[in-house]
Amino acid sequence: MSEMSEMSEVITLHEHLRELDEELATLISRICELSILIRRELPHRLGKAGTVNISGEQQTKIDVWANDVFIDGLLSTGLIHQLASEESEDIVEYEEGTGAFNITLDPLDGSSNIESNNLFGVICGIYDASTPLPARGRKLKAALTILYGPLTTMMYTAKRGVHEFVKGRKHNLEDVYYLVNEHLQIPSPGKVYGVPSNREMWLPEFRHFIALLEREHYGLRYGGSFIGDTNQVLHKGGFFAYPAYLDRPHGKLRLQFECNPMSLIVEEAGGKSSVGMGSVLDVEPTSLHQRVPLYIGNVELIDQMETLFAKCRDARLYY
Ligand code: AHG
Ligand code: MN
Ligand code: MN
Repeated sequence: MSEMSEMSEVITLHEHLRELDEELATLISRICELSILIRRELPHRLGKAGTVNISGEQQTKIDVWANDVFIDGLLSTGLIHQLASEESEDIVEYEEGTGAFNITLDPLDGSSNIESNNLFGVICGIYDASTPLPARGRKLKAALTILYGPLTTMMYTAKRGVHEFVKGRKHNLEDVYYLVNEHLQIPSPGKVYGVPSNREMWLPEFRHFIALLEREHYGLRYGGSFIGDTNQVLHKGGFFAYPAYLDRPHGKLRLQFECNPMSLIVEEAGGKSSVGMGSVLDVEPTSLHQRVPLYIGNVELIDQMETLFAKCRDARLYY
């Protein structure tokens, strides 16, 4: 992250968004305002909600509350036609809405990390209202993430590069996101790799590829949140996967709410995404909450992995 410039020189998110179409800029600004409200409320909404989402996962109180905050806060802008959330079974169609956008939300990615005060955040994909959800990632107009860590950072792409902001202050204005990385590019060669556990259930070709990375001394970085682990790869270069498993060929991460937006950001930052063979963004969706295997990182690593997979395997579900 570049040196924090003098307050007077900082470019705020509001100023940077002027490059975009006004309605898209308004929507992104609104998401960022809501993200600040959620961070502030977080200490007062800890613990489990006692409910389970459509993916069969325990919801935390903040999962449920953040979901409601985003739904209410975004529908009231009049800019939303369809809203789909990882925490809601069905698409919320805003009936009167002639809204210009359809939006996908993981209101809190890595929410199981909250009780241990580890990284987590918000993942959002924005489509034109003429692109019905679930949608192919290639159709995304923009994608943005808010990462709650020691710093609160925000990253967005509107398909003209990836830009990163940190939440701070400007003069007497509190809670301002200002630019720290414009046209962020994934460093190459990379240094880190992140993979989940249960190695004995990995596909043999994936085990083989990870062994190659370990022989090349990539440092293991796995924090248990997709948004945090991908952010490390974007800043240090390398590889992250939530792969296909022998007992879970679709992996764990959701195409609409996690994989499409993050893959757009990684590809716009000069990296590459894959479901084992081919970009995540080219997967034709079959259902709203479908999961896909997810591999992201430096182009040369994804190419190396796909070549290895092709050599080791006949065509299968994903490659
Ligand atoms: P969410 O909290 O939105 O359900 O996402 C959690 C996901 C993802 O953020 C992370 O990469 C993965 O779960 C971690 O899974 P494991 O606990 O199996 O490692
Ligand atoms: Mn998630
Ligand atoms: Mn989530």
